[in-house]
Amino acid sequence: MMQRKETKHVPANHAGNGFYGQDIISVNQFDRAKLDYIFHVADEMRVMVERFGSADLLQGKILANLFYEPSTRTSSSFMAAMMRLGGQVIPINNVQYSSVTKGESLPDTVRTLESYSDVIVIRHPEMGAAATAAHYAQKPVINAGDGVGEHPTQALLDLFTILEALGKVDGLKVAMVGDLKYGRTVHSLTKLLVNYDVEFAFVSPEMLQMPSDVLDVVRSNQRRPEGHDYSILEDVHEVIGHVDVLYVTRVQKERFTDLAEYDRVKDQYVVDDALMQRAKERMIVMHPLPRVNEISYTVDNDPRAAYFRQMRNGMYVRMALLASVLGKA
Ligand code: NCD
Repeated sequence: MMQRKETKHVPANHAGNGFYGQDIISVNQFDRAKLDYIFHVADEMRVMVERFGSADLLQGKILANLFYEPSTRTSSSFMAAMMRLGGQVIPINNVQYSSVTKGESLPDTVRTLESYSDVIVIRHPEMGAAATAAHYAQKPVINAGDGVGEHPTQALLDLFTILEALGKVDGLKVAMVGDLKYGRTVHSLTKLLVNYDVEFAFVSPEMLQMPSDVLDVVRSNQRRPEGHDYSILEDVHEVIGHVDVLYVTRVQKERFTDLAEYDRVKDQYVVDDALMQRAKERMIVMHPLPRVNEISYTVDNDPRAAYFRQMRNGMYVRMALLASVLGKA
């Protein structure tokens, strides 16, 4: 699925980082060497933005930003990333005003956009849609969320934020809380974290537990000979005192067929000052955002709140990814 595009000519001097011309569909594509590379470039992007605001690395390049689902951060951070590198963007955030409404298929939409652009970012409500788009496109396709599947660029920025805040990933205890069934960010983050020596706690209502295919990855010894320790529980109080990372998610209302079920589980977890008092002094609270009620606003001022830093890091990581797949990193 993630092979280099057959028909693409890759000059020898671009062989270096292995990202040139590639699609980014799943976190399975990343090992520690690739992660180190992207984070190193993202760090450089941060320094560049802080010093100069922008650069001309991607001047003359065009990104098609194709969003079939709502987005604030992912969409605008990809746009900002492209623009800060001197490139330009075709933003399609309202597919209802595009030919999609006339019944155009995903392959045809993708073929159209790649005739005008150099890279396509796609968010779509169906799992596997980004892989389908990548199959039909010759240009690199980046998955910005495919239904309940994956959200690889979010997981990369999450991991980058953990490294920035805690200085390491090996040895950490990570709790993921909330909607682990439908939340694509926790699927991708879990699959990325198995590259490290991490212990997991999956905290959710019974009906929103982590899917078994993701648990299989945690249990398997593919990335680590002894597999990973993990626990599945319903009460966050059981783990709050031990965790280094508390990754909180929104209950994904749009994925429910029965809204009465949503109402039963929506406010089960709220991170507030009382809960934070029981947490370690050195830990972080993360959230991909948007939050609904999961984290009280009073927690925002706690130095352990990392969700706004995640948001900012998203742009640096996406700058690194765009520059890499376009062969300019
Ligand atoms: C997440 C998503 O779209 O999966 N948002 C994001 O990209 N930051 C999380 C969510 O919508 O709950």
